[in-house]
Formats: sequence, C-alpha cells, structure tokens
Amino acid sequence: MSDQIILQLKGISKQFPGVKALDNVSLDVRKGEVHVLLGENGAGKSTLMKILSGVYKKDSGKIFLDGKEVEINSVNDAENLGIGIIHQEFNLLPHRDIAQNIFLGKEPTKRGPLGVKVLDKATMYSKCNELLKTVGIDLDSRILVKDLGIAQKQMVEIAKALSLANLKILIMDEPTATLTKGEIDKLFSIIRKYKSMGISIIYISHRMEEIQVIGDRVTVLRDGKYIGTVPVKETPPSELIRMMVGREITNLYKRDYNEPGPEALKVCNLSSRGKFKDVNFSVRRGEIVGFYGLVGAGRTEVAKAIFGEDKYDAGEILINGKKVKHHMPSQAVQNKMGLLPEDRRDEGLITKMLLKQNVVQASLRKVFPKGILNNKVESQIATKYITKLNIATPDENVVVASLSGGNQQKVVLAKWLLTDSEVLIFDEPTRGIDVGAKAEIYELMNDLAKSGKAIMMISSDLPEVIGLSDRIYVMYQGKIVAEFSHENASQERIVNFAIGRGDTL
Ligand SMILES: Nc1ncnc2c1ncn2[C@@H]1O[C@H](COP(=O)(O)OP(=O)(O)OP(=O)(O)O)[C@@H](O)[C@H]1O
Ligand SMILES: [Mg+2]
Repeated sequence: MSDQIILQLKGISKQFPGVKALDNVSLDVRKGEVHVLLGENGAGKSTLMKILSGVYKKDSGKIFLDGKEVEINSVNDAENLGIGIIHQEFNLLPHRDIAQNIFLGKEPTKRGPLGVKVLDKATMYSKCNELLKTVGIDLDSRILVKDLGIAQKQMVEIAKALSLANLKILIMDEPTATLTKGEIDKLFSIIRKYKSMGISIIYISHRMEEIQVIGDRVTVLRDGKYIGTVPVKETPPSELIRMMVGREITNLYKRDYNEPGPEALKVCNLSSRGKFKDVNFSVRRGEIVGFYGLVGAGRTEVAKAIFGEDKYDAGEILINGKKVKHHMPSQAVQNKMGLLPEDRRDEGLITKMLLKQNVVQASLRKVFPKGILNNKVESQIATKYITKLNIATPDENVVVASLSGGNQQKVVLAKWLLTDSEVLIFDEPTRGIDVGAKAEIYELMNDLAKSGKAIMMISSDLPEVIGLSDRIYVMYQGKIVAEFSHENASQERIVNFAIGRGDTL
C-alpha cells in the first residue's frame, strides 16, 4: 500500500424522507489499500457507496479521483471511471445464465454476416469461464442464476465486479455475509491479488475478526456522520466497537445454561437424496442447539425439510413426541414452529409492503382472531419491536425496501418472535447485523430459551455458535459428523470436522 491518495469524498450529504442518511461525510482512500467502512445498521455505509457507484445522487459534496473532481451521475459513469461495486443485495437476473448476468450491458460483439454488430456468444462464454476460474468458482457459465445457491450467487456478483476493465476502486458491501470459511479464504486471496495490482478496495463488513485480517485502515460512520479513520493494526476491536456504537460491549455472548426440558423437536434418520442422509438429532425445551458446517453441508436443507418447505425421502420428525409431516410451511406454523430463513430478502419479507405489515404477517390469526385487520393494533405491535430490536426507521409505516440491510433482517426476526412458536429455527440469525444489535439479539435468544422455547440455530459464525449453544452439531456433506456439548466445544476441533478431516487433532 502506498500513501498516494486515489479517491477523496468531501462533505457528502444525502437526505431521504425522514432520515439524514449522510451528514457531511469525508473520506480518503489510498491506492492499493483495503479501506474498511464500519458502522451500525443504518449508519449510512451502503448509501455512501451507492453515491460513489452512481446508484444514488448526492445532495451535496464533491468526489475527486486521482486528484481531479469527477461527476458521477449513473452506474455507467462510475464504471467508466473504474469504480465497481458488489452490492449488499444481489442484483442478478434469475432467469439468465451466469455469463449473461456478468456481461449484461457490456456483451462482446462481432460483425455479423450483413456487417451489423451481433452478440459474440463464443467469446462471452469463454471469457466468462476464464473469469470464473480467476475467482475460483467451479461453475459452468451457462447455469441459470436461479439454480445457484446463495454463496454461489455471491461469488457471481464478485466475478461481475471484477469483470470491469480499468478497475481502480472496488467496493464490496458485505461480500462475506453469505460465505463460509473456504470461500472467504478464496475471496481474501483475490483481494490480496488485486491490492498488489494497485487496486483499492472499500470493504464493508460487520465481522470484526475479518477486519483484522484483511483491512488496512478503518473509517467509522455513526448516524450518517463521520467519526474517524484509524489504522487497523494499531486499533483494538474494543476501540472500533466504541467508535461505532458509542459505548462498550464487554460480554457479547450471554447464556444462562439451565437444565433443559423434554425433547421438543426430534429428527430420526431424515434423508433427502443428494442433500442429506440419516440425520438424527434433537432439540429440548430451553436449549439452543447450534449447527455448524460449510456452505453446502446440508444444514439449511434439513431445516427446510423439517419446516415443510422441501420434501424428504425418508425419516421421521417428532414435535413434542408426536409424529408430524409438514407438506407446507403453514402446517409447521400451526404446529408452533417458526423459521427465520437464510435468504431473507427472497423468503422472509415482502419488501414492497410496510414494516408493520411484515411484522404481523405470520401471526395474522393470533393478532386478529376475528379476521378483521386493525391498523392501530398493527402499529402498536410493530412499534414495540422497533424499540425492542432497535430498528433504525422513521416509523412503522415505511416500506421495508427503504430500510438498511441489517434493519430489514431485524424486521424478519420481529415477525418470528411475534408468532409465539415453541420450536424456532434460526438460519444465520445475525448475518449482516451490527455488533450492538447482535448483543440485543443474543440476549433475546437467551430469554427465549429461558422461557422454554427450543431453538435450532444454524450459523457460520463460529464464535457465535460456541458462545450461545448448549450443544453443537457439525455437518459435513449432508451428514452430522460430530456433536459437542458447550463444555467440550473447541473451535479447532469443530472446524476440523466441518472440513471433513474428522477427529484428527
Ligand atoms: N432508498 C431509500 N429510501 C429511504 N431511506 C433510505 C433508503 N436507503 C437507505 N435509507 C435510509 O438511510 C439510512 C442509511 O442506510 P444505509 O443502507 O446506508 O445503512 P448501512 O450503514 O448500509 O446499514 P446496514 O449495515 O444495515 O447495511 C437508513 O436509515 C435507511 O433506512
Ligand atoms: Mg448496508
């Protein structure tokens, strides 16, 4: 990394209805550095990056690239200047294949028989395959995006940003949120390679341990305001957290381990061809049971089968000792189950609807037993959760799409907390959530367990799995390969099982 400044943002402000998203923010980025942007959910990180990449227009402020002031009024402008972005939310077209998505709007052409320009398919697919190889994705560029898993979609987004010619600044808005260890390592080696080529990376993440590994300098935003820029090496995480939330968080994982009650969920020999095999486990009342594994290990698939979202071929599911078979999620909800899905934008929310409507959506019968909706009740309930989960929003009457990524997730969480489910499956409950809010969510989960709920928690955040679980199951290639109690859980041994090395430590 050199000291040469390549990008300067000066006094950037942006107002949304009811929210000052950015208030006079300035920032310098050096050539070849990984510049981390840190801040709570709703602090303004994505908004600032959307301004830089031409998605939003700033109200005021200036942008300098290589010392020259530039006007960025469209995504095209940004791309022409060599600014690429990997968005927090996926921007892929599900019914097009990988190559069509990556080369959208910049498809290679050739002269056709009549001398007119036509799409050069052969070049597009061969270039795409090459690119995928660089990124380390082992996928055919003709696969439709809708058939990809969430981690694969993320890798395609990354490849798309890297396809930009003359790349100077690469913005990554929570690129690792949906990736696990193997893919993160791959991503980090790509980042190092681009750094060494003199490309600057602006990196947004809520994972503190990542920042230490990959970041050079960190800029902290709070409530749309610039707090400061510090070098990573000389700043302990506790200091970063203090800058970010304005207070100390000492004990992030808080658990009262009580004597668990009877088995609330029992799964016997559950199998689904090509997805998972002979899965056996139980979750007792009062327990949080963690599921750790790499992406593709089958954790989400098991959860979906239990919840009636996917079919399974063999095996039994018991709730409170009673055999159940869910053909659709509504049956699982009737049996007092709830599932916080991994892919929240697609499965957990109706983003065009209001915050309050989303919160009550899975509890309509409970909240309105007579079937008559009541606006006031809806608002009261939503307001309660806005406070409880500290959702950053002007009020309960905004469309969910206008909330920041992390705050959208809190809305899904509120929705499932409201249902009064006895068996809760949380698939990556704190992904994309800032540390302050994480602490709140952990406390809430502890309270839920204490009140006798049975919680199955799928998570790729190992400290979280170890810090919160009564017991931990590790999955590898569709099978449960190990079980740990919280007393004998060790980070190294769990990872070893998760990558298929078994108990070799
Ligand atoms: N299109 C929009 N319309 C209205 N308000 C918006 C819009 N986009 C963002 N906001 C608001 O601006 C503020 C900053 O949001 P932003 O998405 O930049 O936060 P963030 O720092 O990226 O948070 P997160 O960590 O949750 O992704 C939030 O209060 C958000 O609700
Ligand atoms: Mg964001």
